[in-house]
Amino acid sequence: MIVFDSVSYRYNNDALALENLSCTLTKQKVALLGANGSGKSTLLQHVNGLLLPDSGMVSVDGEHVTKQNLQSIRKTVGIVFDNPENQLFAPTVYDDIAFGPRNKGLGEEEVAVIVHDVLKLLQISELQERMPYHLSLGQKKKVAIAGVLAMQPQVLLFDEPFSGLDPISLQEFLKLLEVLSDKGHTIVVTTHDVDVVYGWADECVVLQSGKVLVHGTVEILEDRERMTKAKLTIPTLVQLFEHTSFRPKSIEEAKMYVQKKEKVW
Ligand SMILES: Nc1ncnc2c1ncn2[C@@H]1O[C@H](COP(=O)(O)OP(=O)(O)OP(=O)(O)O)[C@@H](O)[C@H]1O
Ligand SMILES: [Mg+2]
Repeated sequence: MIVFDSVSYRYNNDALALENLSCTLTKQKVALLGANGSGKSTLLQHVNGLLLPDSGMVSVDGEHVTKQNLQSIRKTVGIVFDNPENQLFAPTVYDDIAFGPRNKGLGEEEVAVIVHDVLKLLQISELQERMPYHLSLGQKKKVAIAGVLAMQPQVLLFDEPFSGLDPISLQEFLKLLEVLSDKGHTIVVTTHDVDVVYGWADECVVLQSGKVLVHGTVEILEDRERMTKAKLTIPTLVQLFEHTSFRPKSIEEAKMYVQKKEKVW
């Protein structure tokens, strides 16, 4: 459970990026949505203490996120940034992924097992000797994710994970998220991709100007008025089936509905 209790945060002397924000996240697949500048990344960075609130409180599974327990919080909570360049620095992919486990003081044999496991999970074993700097954006994203998974955190934060992925990589990434949630991880993503979230999340928070506009299941994304207020659109599948009572969450579900209707016609 992730709790934000009356959290306010301001960068330098700018306007408030988060304003007295309260919200409790209880599900395993959580999406933070909102227009550019609404506060998604700022909120995400409060979960692992990269940013600490000016006022208010954040806790993860009962543990307060404070300066004093950052080390412990970061064992529980891993973050993958929107720009993978920010977290890749070793000369090879292998070393990059091994950095965290080595830092934990694990021996090389144990490190090798962990690194090979995550390389396999992300299907990037062939990249292990490559220089991270020379990889494509999608490949860099995968290596950055692998580096965080190698630390085995219970909670995984992804800032804009769906952007910059080709359609196949997006499907693969969604499959990976399924594997991770099946393993018991809590996953929090920031995004403005309502279509992906509609088929994936079990809890959504829509932010507007550093505040929670609406919080609930994916059905909240069907509310055109609120979504317009948040400068988002309702999901494409909802638009397509708006004049029916059917609300498919995936193309497959939509296809089944259309095929059934065709038979009746
Ligand atoms: N490093 C920073 N210094 C100063 N202001 C910042 C900084 N990072 C974000 N902000 C401001 O804080 C507010 C919230 O920004 P944030 O990056 O959290 O939004 P976001 O919802 O993640 O947007 P995006 O969809 O563009 O990633 C914005 O007004 C932004 O300009
Ligand atoms: Mg952001």
